[in-house]
Amino acid sequence: MTFEEIDLYVKENSVGGWLRSEERRELFLLAERAEGVVVELGCYRGLSTLYIAAGAGGHVFSVDNFRGPPDPRYAVNRDRYFAEPEIVREKYLESIRSLGLSDMVSLLEMDTVAAARIDLGEVGLLFIDADHSYAGALNDFNAWHPKVVSGGTVAMHNASGTGVNGNQVKYPGVMKAFAEAVLAGRLLNPRMVGTMGIGVKP
Ligand SMILES: C[S@@+](CC[C@H](N)C(=O)[O-])C[C@H]1O[C@@H](n2cnc3c(N)ncnc32)[C@H](O)[C@@H]1O
Repeated sequence: MTFEEIDLYVKENSVGGWLRSEERRELFLLAERAEGVVVELGCYRGLSTLYIAAGAGGHVFSVDNFRGPPDPRYAVNRDRYFAEPEIVREKYLESIRSLGLSDMVSLLEMDTVAAARIDLGEVGLLFIDADHSYAGALNDFNAWHPKVVSGGTVAMHNASGTGVNGNQVKYPGVMKAFAEAVLAGRLLNPRMVGTMGIGVKP
């Protein structure tokens, strides 16, 4: 499927989610280039999944427990968007089905770190967008980074960017985890697209 087809579906069907347009396009392009399977940690109603699956040649695994952010600082989002987890899950599945993507996308409804114990094959692209606390982002990175192939890509959403007041980093924990990974040489050629930190596994 093309990027434009997905974009149209997203606009017409109020999929919901938190991705800027340049981040959507970048996910599509990264998935297109990925060699191996694609893993996304945190899918919510499937916005990122649709762009990734439209671009990907290999299988896409979404991991989400549909419980919302575990960090108490973001409890307001949990109450607002995850009060009825079964509706979130159904919205995710509905989009995948409607676009005929069911054969190439699998949902692992579980904790992101626990899912890293499952052998899914070589990961060409890892998209991290789950627990936005420092510990959460770091645990996800540490659990999944070893599974990414050398030359594969890791993208971390909300690794920079400010909140509505414009003067405060919205998710400092993700930013710190991403910066540390770069400084430690665990991600090469770092760059930002929107709020998404992107690097290459050595
Ligand atoms: C910001 S949302 C994902 C947004 C999605 N990528 C999009 O483009 O719309 C974060 C998701 O991660 C999930 N999540 C957070 N911590 C998790 C954990 N430890 N294990 C599994 N899922 C988790 C939440 O349930 C939530 O759906």
